[in-house]
Amino acid sequence: MRISVIGCGYLGAVHAVSMAKLGHDVVGIDVDAARIGDLAAGRAPFFEPRLPELLAEALGSGRLAFSTDPADAAGAEVHFLCVGTPQRKGEYAADMRYVDAAVAGLAPHLAPGDVIAGKSTVPVGTAARLAEYLAHEAPGAVLAWNPEFLREGHAIQDTLSPDRLVYGLPEGPSGAAAAAVLDQAYAAPLAAGTPRLTMDYATAELVKTAANSFLATKISFINAMAEVCDASGADVTALADAIGMDERIGRSFLNAGVGFGGGCLPKDIRAFMARAGELGADQALTFLREVDAINMRRRSKVVEMTREVCGGSLLGKRVTILGAAFKPESDDVRDSPALSAAAQLQLQGATVTVTDPQALQNAKGRFPELSYEPATENALLGAHAVVLLTEWKEYRSLDPVSTGPLVADKNIIDGRNVLDPAAWRAAGWNYKGMGRP
Ligand code: UGA
Repeated sequence: MRISVIGCGYLGAVHAVSMAKLGHDVVGIDVDAARIGDLAAGRAPFFEPRLPELLAEALGSGRLAFSTDPADAAGAEVHFLCVGTPQRKGEYAADMRYVDAAVAGLAPHLAPGDVIAGKSTVPVGTAARLAEYLAHEAPGAVLAWNPEFLREGHAIQDTLSPDRLVYGLPEGPSGAAAAAVLDQAYAAPLAAGTPRLTMDYATAELVKTAANSFLATKISFINAMAEVCDASGADVTALADAIGMDERIGRSFLNAGVGFGGGCLPKDIRAFMARAGELGADQALTFLREVDAINMRRRSKVVEMTREVCGGSLLGKRVTILGAAFKPESDDVRDSPALSAAAQLQLQGATVTVTDPQALQNAKGRFPELSYEPATENALLGAHAVVLLTEWKEYRSLDPVSTGPLVADKNIIDGRNVLDPAAWRAAGWNYKGMGRP
């Protein structure tokens, strides 16, 4: 099939490469000329496992091209809309300007029968609004809403073999025709048994926001339990293991620590609350305010714990932060709990050094006032407190014995509850987990 992908950020770049991998002829389009230049030259613009190899393979096969001109989308049978919907400055609501601009730019190049498949995370009601716009501007083209559930760090695998495919469709023959076109685009995962669910636009949009809200709620639930564990001397990790064995609950997304960040969960729950307010259903989502508040408290908690192990004051103390990315296997620092805590520690008088295997470049751009050190051993030198905030494998496997002589004071705060407290304590460290005695 001929496919266009509009927007080559995280989602779009991965989608374009994955569609080419599935055998389609793909053009990726973005207004950012530098990004398009990088992709066309085979340089992945962000860190994502397998992306560089698959990008090179797809470019080499001749099935993948990139362009800044929306006119190059003409002739594709399906156009995947993959632009960002960030949080609006000073508000909770999503900023829809990129989605609207992408659709306006694409409309003149659409032909009757073309399918536009929206993948961006949008406020419920967006697809209906865009469909109305397209009915005037590109008669005969059909809009489908096809949300994306990929996780950074697993993006290629999640795209090539997703848990499920969701199609939000208009009623009648145009909806059935759009479903048939999407089935062709996703022929390989469908043949491999991926479940495919069809529904109306609003439900498809809500599937995405509801899924991310549920995940955020699960994390904040266990972090709330961590607060109670701290108050009562219980162990949140043992608690999570035990409740997670109930298959109705499940163990995943029950890791307590410094909380969730990234370009999706935090802004998605806020945009969801804002949209529910517009719809007069704000009461239904007031609990998400609490989910957000619990999550933000985790960052302050890490700062307080660090101050405590430093003897009550951060002034003049050297603090080493292990991890800058919002999670491992990613160089994404958007709303990273690690960087947020690092910045607060620095503001309160500590001298903070941040290390991370992939995200230092992006971190420097956001917080130029912090010190950055790529080599873990150098970053640890002379530290009065070490704070693990992103659970990269190399930090999980740090050796407490050989690490000891590098630091000034053997204080370690395990902001992801991934270290073995007994081993660290046996090596003479003052170990503090989050919600662990
Ligand atoms: C999230 C969803 O998991 C994807 O399904 C969704 O497609 C994506 O958002 C999106 O909307 O595009 P992602 O942002 O890549 O994916 O990251 P997650 O793996 O969900 O992790 C989010 C944050 O939660 C990270 O900061 C992570 O460290 C934290 N987390 C996760 C916890 O604190 N505890 C856990 O148990 C799990």
